[in-house]
Amino acid sequence: MKFTTPATTNPIDQLKVVGKPTDRVDGPNKTTGTARYAYERHDVAPNAAYGYIVGASVAKAIIKSIDISAARGAPGVLGVVTYENAGKLEKGSKNTARLLAGPEVQHYHQAVALVVAETFEQARAAAALVKVEYSPISGSYDLAKEMAAAKTPKKDEKPATKVGDFDGAFASAPVKLDATYTTPDESHAMMEPHASIAQWNGDKLTVWTANQMIDWGVSDMAQTLGIKKEKVRFVSPYIGGGFGGKLFLRAEAVLAALGAKQTGRAVKVALQRPLMINNTTHRPATIQRIRIGATREGRITAIAHESWSGDLPGGQPETAVNQTRLLYAGPNRLTHMRLAELDLPEGNAMRAPGEAPGMMALEIAMDELAEKLKMDPVTLRIINDTTVDPEKRTRKFSQRRYVECLRTGAERFGWSKRNAEPAKVREGRWLVGYGVASAFRNNIVMKSGARVRLDSKGMVTVETDMTDIGTGTYTIIAQTAAEMMGVTLDKVVVKLGDSDYPVSAGSGGQWGGNSSTAGVYAACMKLREAVTKKLGLAADAEFADGTVKAGGKSVALHEAANGGELVVEDKMEYGDLDKKFQQSTFGAHFVEVAVDAYTGEVRLRRMLAVCAAGRILNPKAARSQVIGAMTMGAGAALMEELVVDERVGFFVNHDLASYEVPVHADIPHQDVVFLDETDPMSSPMKAKGVGELGICGVAAAIANAIYNATGVRVREYPVTLDKLI
Ligand code: MOS
Repeated sequence: MKFTTPATTNPIDQLKVVGKPTDRVDGPNKTTGTARYAYERHDVAPNAAYGYIVGASVAKAIIKSIDISAARGAPGVLGVVTYENAGKLEKGSKNTARLLAGPEVQHYHQAVALVVAETFEQARAAAALVKVEYSPISGSYDLAKEMAAAKTPKKDEKPATKVGDFDGAFASAPVKLDATYTTPDESHAMMEPHASIAQWNGDKLTVWTANQMIDWGVSDMAQTLGIKKEKVRFVSPYIGGGFGGKLFLRAEAVLAALGAKQTGRAVKVALQRPLMINNTTHRPATIQRIRIGATREGRITAIAHESWSGDLPGGQPETAVNQTRLLYAGPNRLTHMRLAELDLPEGNAMRAPGEAPGMMALEIAMDELAEKLKMDPVTLRIINDTTVDPEKRTRKFSQRRYVECLRTGAERFGWSKRNAEPAKVREGRWLVGYGVASAFRNNIVMKSGARVRLDSKGMVTVETDMTDIGTGTYTIIAQTAAEMMGVTLDKVVVKLGDSDYPVSAGSGGQWGGNSSTAGVYAACMKLREAVTKKLGLAADAEFADGTVKAGGKSVALHEAANGGELVVEDKMEYGDLDKKFQQSTFGAHFVEVAVDAYTGEVRLRRMLAVCAAGRILNPKAARSQVIGAMTMGAGAALMEELVVDERVGFFVNHDLASYEVPVHADIPHQDVVFLDETDPMSSPMKAKGVGELGICGVAAAIANAIYNATGVRVREYPVTLDKLI
């Protein structure tokens, strides 16, 4: 089915099931431990051997020799995989670095070997006996030092934009801001590490794994091993968090496949937690320079956002200037990304790549500009709203209720009680402040397919390779199918995450919810057609209460299965509608903090997010997404930072003991408001993404609140107490 805009009234609009705050249909499985995650698939691979990964202990080198003889002879060892015995491996299309090093080592903790043994302990003990000799090569590990050598990236489709005359307009602007902000490298730190069990059956490979994008993973596994895609199956029904870290094929899956091949056994590998941070991808650090010129009345006349980030050769920039192209009006504009070559581990997507770090900088800049103008920061944002894409002025937004988010939030939060002068509100030892920031994240739509089965008991089964990374996909897909077929939720079974099912949008870029349910919508429309045809009813029959009604006739839905099964498959495809309309999601974050006047300790007191993100398919699941994102934003504001050892070239704090993330005690009550919105340009679901919107801007709202509390402006994240005293 091709999506044509605007979406018309359709069965989803009944909102009998969709739009309700439904509990998770997979909740009981997860809370009772019956949902099996990749590493726990004893049911399919009861005799799996254990793999343990050896990571490179240098960042950049040539391997002189690998001695596996001692490891090979250790108790229980079944095999040792290295580049010398693995056969020729290609690089997956989505990987910047290769997943098995040798002879070159491209980054610290890049895998150099997999030891396979009968037990985990034996594999671990033997891994310590693998001897690798390196010839080190000097590398570049310091973004600030490499700034001058950074280049405009070629691979990015839009590395720089220019509208009007920024330099002239900025020079003549009566009020100017020119400031530089930095964001550090950050890690995904999800609960479930990357984990896979691989098993060969002849030339066919099955991988039970944890992967956000099944089809990408299957393609890249086939490409890496040099086998046909049809020979590879991925199964990933439950995933313990992803955040972008599981978007791509990773080392544990490839090594499990190679270990299984070498030993003739099923092999399971969970990437050891201390390897996770340097072995896999991370959110790259940025240096961002923002210049804004405005009239005395606060109208932006010139805005420039330049961002520097680094990656391994062949890598990509952190697209931190994205939102600045679209968020505020202003006739003279400039954005520019520059990419430095660094030999740190590979950078890549982490929740709201681009906008998350971009908003951390831009939204402090707006706060600083408001202060220069002696203007309320909410007002400043409102007067610089735009109804069109400010770079291409004829292009409208499909929906843009940004100002309403700011106004609703200000009202609800009690923003008028804020003291505009910093460091003036004190409660005992606590300095109290309020902060605001916008939320902005683009809405991407992706082709997505599904298969739907109707059986003679009236059960509707949905099959799609879509994944649920803890986001609630099972539930919103069940709601969609129930709405479309006129049945209750208990009549719907959802099967996800298997490459034997139709290819879906997958989970990434906050496109999963809207796109995957739209694919289920398409398949259900086809099933409705098949049902009415089979029952000899008019095509516009009503599907409700388990029956199909038309022309005064009412027939039970299950009769269409006729004692067997009715099976259809379809996908939702989008043309180039995003060229006509800019699709984005909007919001506003409000935060109250208290800062200890003596120690600089920051306590978050209240957080509020107001979001305009199209139809909210399940307000309960969506709220969970947003509070999770706000929590991650609090981490980015106050504590998350991968510390780079610039001599050796690695992230020092590479485990959860030293990579600090928020815990319950760090997070206050979080209030989330969704504007009642539908976006008929986004899909027949009229929904959009929300899971990444929630993180964009939070950290700046916190930094701005800290400034309001203390009068100390910190432009280098995270805002730790040493920077406040
Ligand atoms: Mo997302 S960072 O595309 O999983």
